[in-house]
Amino acid sequence: MSASATLEAVEEMETTKTGRRASGQASLPETVERVVLTGFMGSGKTTTGKLLAELLGWEFRDLDREIERRDGRTVPQIFAESGEEAFRRLEAGALASLCGKRRVVIALGGGAIEELRNRLLLEQTPRTAVVYLQAPLETLLERCATDTGTARPLLGEAEARFKRRHPLYERVAQHKVTTTELAAAAVAEAVVEALRG
Ligand code: S3P
Repeated sequence: MSASATLEAVEEMETTKTGRRASGQASLPETVERVVLTGFMGSGKTTTGKLLAELLGWEFRDLDREIERRDGRTVPQIFAESGEEAFRRLEAGALASLCGKRRVVIALGGGAIEELRNRLLLEQTPRTAVVYLQAPLETLLERCATDTGTARPLLGEAEARFKRRHPLYERVAQHKVTTTELAAAAVAEAVVEALRG
């Protein structure tokens, strides 16, 4: 057994009934090796994902940032220069590569769920828990309006997209966390609770 595997085993034994290790980190059932956060733009996938990864002591990856890292252009540039279809292809490739990782929290982009290939990948990748961060459309739009740091090329058609996507988020995710009244740290805690059953 490697030193890090031994450390993991010891930490596992120290895990308390509340799911906290002695280090204060939360632990998930062994059947979960990656947590994927899905939901519409403004649902808090990135902010919650970072906090969740910290809680678990896992790596955090944001799918949009992964696309940008692999392609060398920003998301708005890809939309403007190559169009949505090309963006979706890049997105699917980036997701497939992230799904090969263990002990990782992945924040999807809001539209990734519309692609059948992504839904199949999420459903067929073992030990992958998908969590839908849910909020009413009005709340999501308010959050997007105040989050001026993120350029969202598709915000204009939000209502139609939301209607199309909501049933897909519900179908693919095994868990749903309503984020309306919760601060990001509380959402991360609620995700851990949901995953611990
Ligand atoms: C999109 C959402 C964005 C980003 C791209 C397209 C969408 O991600 O992937 O602008 O189709 O809803 P966020 O949900 O992180 O804003």
